[in-house]
Amino acid sequence: MTKTKTALITGVTGQDGSYLAELLLGKGYHVHGIVRRNSDFTSKRIDHLLTRPDFVTSYGDVVDSSSLHSLLVEVKPVEIYHLAAQSHVGVSFQIPDYSAQVNALGTLRLLNAIKELKLDCRFYQASTSELFGGLPETAPQSESTPFTPRSPYAIGKLFSYWSVRNYREAYGLHASNGIFFNHESPRRGKNFVTKKISQAVARIKQGTQDNLRLGNLDAERDWGYAREYVEAMWLMLQQPQPNDLVVGTGVRTSVRRFTELCFAEIGIVLEWSGKGVSEVGRDKKTGKTLVSVDPVYFRATEADLLQADPRRANEKLKWKPKTDVAKLAQLMLRYDLAHEDYGFPDEA
Ligand code: NAP
Ligand code: GDD
Repeated sequence: MTKTKTALITGVTGQDGSYLAELLLGKGYHVHGIVRRNSDFTSKRIDHLLTRPDFVTSYGDVVDSSSLHSLLVEVKPVEIYHLAAQSHVGVSFQIPDYSAQVNALGTLRLLNAIKELKLDCRFYQASTSELFGGLPETAPQSESTPFTPRSPYAIGKLFSYWSVRNYREAYGLHASNGIFFNHESPRRGKNFVTKKISQAVARIKQGTQDNLRLGNLDAERDWGYAREYVEAMWLMLQQPQPNDLVVGTGVRTSVRRFTELCFAEIGIVLEWSGKGVSEVGRDKKTGKTLVSVDPVYFRATEADLLQADPRRANEKLKWKPKTDVAKLAQLMLRYDLAHEDYGFPDEA
């Protein structure tokens, strides 16, 4: 009889954590999720899993070594997916110390607990394209592109990246960095740009919001679909050797273009005029201003252009994203037209 595998997910209440939990449960794993204490429940994305006997959650926090240590002893996972993070780049400029505690030291705490406990498990670290800093001259970015992080978020994640490599080399851990480019979904947090746009466009269509204020419209990102990307996380831990791999679509799109794609879904063609903070997007038919620029969303330093060169991962994992950015905008917009909040079943 084969023994059921137990996987531990930090950040299980987040966008990726919820999709990964579903994927692993579908593969027959027992899934144990770490949930941090908040002033209210944050389980909206995993509420539909909470009654399952093969899905368990415990309170823990990646800034609290003792909780991590106890959970590892109790759960004895064979795979750990470390997704917990203060994941908002813009916010990391306002809370740099906390962002480092979570995004840098959180990973170290987990790695060190695994080492101290001599736990026989594989470890996935949610690394990020933000390590590259988005300098246009380095695009597209691959595993050999130099790292030039440009935010407290990215600097913390760089520490985690090297911690994974160090524990792998020094102690032989099967620990991997998934250097993932942006991935979105209807479950995306509402203060990330794609969800902010799709939700606003849905509300504009429904007459409950007047217009949309954005920051840098010129920033370019390589946007994929989160539900697909969690499979690449799992595949990375099924490889005989640990590795650090870039995962993305290879296609870049500006914030301005993503906005156009969402408005097109409700039959509105945007016409842009003005420059910089004076730029506006108007409804071509009515002339109404629907999009304007608000410098409050600018970042002190910005990753201008992130575009993956994902060839190595495509080859090693035999995996490629299927959803392009137009399809992604469509599925997010359709979800937001039908739902005010996260809820299930969603976009399937
Ligand atoms: P997300 O939706 O913001 O989820 C973050 C998760 O981390 C949430 O479950 C959050 O809990 C949890 N968390 C935050 N601080 C914690 C702490 N101190 N202790 C324990 N848990 C904590 O992020 P995501 O988009 O799913 O991303 C998952 C991971 O991938 C993150 O590490 C992110 O930095 C990284 N990443 C994401 C992308 C992307 O495009 N999505 C790309 C590259 C890398 P609450 O629910 O309580 O807030
Ligand atoms: N959030 C936000 N809000 N971003 C805006 C806005 C706005 O109103 N207007 C323009 N932007 C621009 C940002 O300046 C950035 O260039 C781009 O839109 C994307 O911003 P986010 O959606 O906040 O994501 P991110 O790219 O900064 O970070 C995400 O992807 C990283 C991988 O590259 C997060 O998921 C990170 O956790 C992840 O590591």
